[in-house]
Amino acid sequence: MEDIILNAQSLKSVIHCGAGAFATYATKLGGKLFIITDSNVYALYKGLIEKTFGNAPTFVLPAGEKSKSRNSLFKIFDKMIDCGVTRSSTVVALGGGVVGDIAGLAASMYMRGIKVVQIPTTLLAQVDSSVGGKTAIDYKGVKNVLGAFYQPSEVIVDPLFLSTLPARELRCGLGEIIKYSAIDCGIYGTLSQNSDKLFDLKFLENVTADCIRHKAKVVTEDERDTTGARKTLNLGHTTGHAFELYYKRKSHGEFVLIGTYYELYIAEKKGICESCYADSLRALITKVIKNIPAYADAEKAALMAKFDKKNDEQSIVSMIVPKSVGESYELKLPIAEYAKLIGECAEKIRGEKC
Ligand SMILES: NC(=O)c1ccc[n+]([C@@H]2O[C@H](COP(=O)([O-])OP(=O)(O)OC[C@H]3O[C@@H](n4cnc5c(N)ncnc54)[C@H](O)[C@@H]3O)[C@@H](O)[C@H]2O)c1
Ligand SMILES: [Zn+2]
Repeated sequence: MEDIILNAQSLKSVIHCGAGAFATYATKLGGKLFIITDSNVYALYKGLIEKTFGNAPTFVLPAGEKSKSRNSLFKIFDKMIDCGVTRSSTVVALGGGVVGDIAGLAASMYMRGIKVVQIPTTLLAQVDSSVGGKTAIDYKGVKNVLGAFYQPSEVIVDPLFLSTLPARELRCGLGEIIKYSAIDCGIYGTLSQNSDKLFDLKFLENVTADCIRHKAKVVTEDERDTTGARKTLNLGHTTGHAFELYYKRKSHGEFVLIGTYYELYIAEKKGICESCYADSLRALITKVIKNIPAYADAEKAALMAKFDKKNDEQSIVSMIVPKSVGESYELKLPIAEYAKLIGECAEKIRGEKC
């Protein structure tokens, strides 16, 4: 087990990481607790939740992205008020990124902010969303448009929860892990040398700590995403989010993989990324998603990137693309040119499949 410290300006966050972290630290959470989880996690871990948190009130969200909504948020507030949650209470977010994002936002707003502890149960939430204090709900079809920066006081990352995770959810977590490999040379080395172990839980446990260390360093430097350091964590996300908004059928982590694949084409075409390095990243991506979709209307879907929060104006799309090992680059393109290149990439994938 290892404690990783995220020294954000707003709050020092301690991330307890490794096997046994839940048994050691969840039982030590003091004061009045309010648990937020989702229906799948509750069904699998009801016994453990009751054993660990006694009769603490528990709010169970329906599983899935649809729960990151205004309705769910206000249902959480209703229950918090009904259960007498006070300023000294602690919200415990036990679940994937959906639970973590909405529970973090609820904690940030309730009585102008009460303590939140994140206990991520998906690989994606363990390597990424539970760390760094970004909280949000989706609104009017725009992802994460209402939210707050709100650091958890503690994050408890225990691989115990990964044993029940469906393969598809492992793939989603690997989406963010491969993103880290494109911005961190250590993680790139580990993944390239062990690409046959990507679905091995023991291997993932070590990589998880590497990803958290990377994120903790970046967020310590740039908590509120203003100096540019934190932007690098959005590699692959411009196209990932655009496709996520347009196609909907896949999950965030899968779209990050697909988005990175498409953006690699642009990075190569624009002379930013060398072909052999781009090939090695593509090889990692296709170990996780064998068939990258060659969307027929990719060019149209790419236009959704105008909503990306990184853009200063809707006509110029900003994206973080791989440059060389451990180095990324912020590329800004007029939206029409960007969408055209995305369409070209789809065409190329279609050609390769024939
Ligand atoms: N705040 C951030 O910095 C940040 C970063 C990345 C992603 N996100 C957000 O995270 C969300 C995606 O997170 P996610 O991929 O964890 O999705 P999720 O929370 O929907 O979880 C995925 C599925 O796994 C199930 N599940 C959770 N834990 C389980 C377990 N231990 N065993 C079996 N099933 C389990 C869930 O019920 C759900 O069906 C998106 O909304 C995305 O926007 C936020
Ligand atoms: Zn992401």
